[in-house]
Amino acid sequence: MADGKLLVLGLESSCDDTAAAVLRVSTETDTEILSSVVSGQTDLHKDFGGVVPEIAARAHAEMLDLCVEQALDQACVNLEDVDLIGVTSGPGLIGGVLSGVMSAKAIAMGAQKPLVGVNHLAGHALTPRMTDAIEYPYLMLVISGGHCQFLIVKGTNQFVRLGGTIDDAPGEAFDKTARLLGLPQPGGPSIDATARDGDPTKFTLPRPLLDREGCDMSFSGLKTAVLRVRDEIVRYKGGLHQSDVNDIASSFQRAISDVLVEKTRRAIVEYFKLLPQTPTFTVAGGVAANSEIRAKLQDLCADHSIAFNAPPLKYCTDNAAMIAYAAAEIYMNDLVDPTHLVARPRWPLDQSKRPLIGHGKKGAKA
Ligand code: KG4
Ligand code: ZN
Repeated sequence: MADGKLLVLGLESSCDDTAAAVLRVSTETDTEILSSVVSGQTDLHKDFGGVVPEIAARAHAEMLDLCVEQALDQACVNLEDVDLIGVTSGPGLIGGVLSGVMSAKAIAMGAQKPLVGVNHLAGHALTPRMTDAIEYPYLMLVISGGHCQFLIVKGTNQFVRLGGTIDDAPGEAFDKTARLLGLPQPGGPSIDATARDGDPTKFTLPRPLLDREGCDMSFSGLKTAVLRVRDEIVRYKGGLHQSDVNDIASSFQRAISDVLVEKTRRAIVEYFKLLPQTPTFTVAGGVAANSEIRAKLQDLCADHSIAFNAPPLKYCTDNAAMIAYAAAEIYMNDLVDPTHLVARPRWPLDQSKRPLIGHGKKGAKA
């Protein structure tokens, strides 16, 4: 540790991105992200309609060393300069998590560096502190292809889960719906663009679980509803016109954004039942890039006089910078727990809550 600053190397391999990053973290100044290397596996899985765990694990094992080397090079540091190593040790696809933990153990042992096991979701949850130094406590919505939950983030390892999806994550719903409409993958950006030319009121799609109290969500039924609408149009007109695709995409996006906005409104109410301080609301994950969802969440926060934050997209999606940052906070606050170095497929952040049921295309949800 030089100048009261910690030089941290992070490794991430829990799903379909192999990543390594180098950060300089200090309690005094803003975090410096010196490098963040992400090597995606989209091409390897594209023929299978989802992530194939065995292919993912093998690719991680092949790419991890390379990503670490690149991250160190880009940061212009040597492994000897590193003070701490952080690695995702769950939740995720077990083969990938094991690849990461084993690589990190070997690097840490060889270079004689301390090693911290990090919960992948804690990495996402602490990202607003890494990018924008957001103070605890804050209210967070993580929405991606694999995650969907509301969290009150009270401290480095203090999380209250207010609700989450009981089946698909919203990104999965975007991707599957895009496939049904013949739009390119990833489906989120395609639907976002296509929806701009459509009528969001043209088709009545369900708003799942709005009739149920609380912040839990469900997105798997929406794609079935879209399938029904699509098939009906095809039966009636003999095919889909561009205007039909636009209108379905737009109606689908409106349904998802209505659900997310209403559940966020409820999460804000739940937050204030538990804590008096006005929080920042922060949204992360690939789906946070959606123009309609983002704009509506921003408006909702303005209505409640709550500050809105969204970290830059490259740190919202899976990356190793967030893992390095979380490792640094854990280390600096003396919260290192050696039992966290065991690779685990499931690892809920809020141990007091029942696990959310659901197992999406990207693995177990916590
Ligand atoms: O966080 P992320 O990069 O990866 C993981 O899920 O791990 O999120 C990817 C998801 C994909 O499902 C993608 O379709 C979705 O985020 N996404 C979007 C948009 N951009 C990416 N969904 C809706 N609107 C977007 N503009
Ligand atoms: Zn993630």
